Amino acid sequence: MNGRSVGKETKEVILTIPGAEIADAVMGCGTASGRDTDKIAKNGIDMQEMPGSGIRVPVHSKVAIRCSLKEYHETGDHYLYICNVEEVLANEAEEALFAWKGYAELRPAK
Ligand SMILES: Cc1cc2nc3c(=O)[nH]c(=O)nc-3n(C[C@H](O)[C@H](O)[C@H](O)COP(=O)(O)O)c2cc1C
Repeated sequence: MNGRSVGKETKEVILTIPGAEIADAVMGCGTASGRDTDKIAKNGIDMQEMPGSGIRVPVHSKVAIRCSLKEYHETGDHYLYICNVEEVLANEAEEALFAWKGYAELRPAK
């Protein structure tokens, strides 16, 4: 099961900003398709339940934005998802990971 099918069937979507501790795993996820592979298992990402949701998120998440899917559109080789934000959770203990130089580097913004 991948994120796209979950979102379309349950109308539930969670966007996360990953924590700096899982930078290598995030790069691994960003440079491979999850169509036929379990990227969570392959990259050894520890997951946790998110309150009020059936979707798990990485333990090392700085921010998790829980959304309800309003509509989606096929736009060529991508889907465009339009969502309502239901809840935003943040973890003070994590350092937010940002992409630099396109997606060539992942590290905190400092
Ligand atoms: C750190 C990072 C690096 C990425 N690098 C690439 C890339 O080199 N080429 C690419 O087509 N998409 C890249 N992406 C975009 C998407 O992650 C990529 O389309 C997605 O992992 C495809 O997996 P999916 O088929 O499971 O959606 C990157 C994303 C991130 C977060």
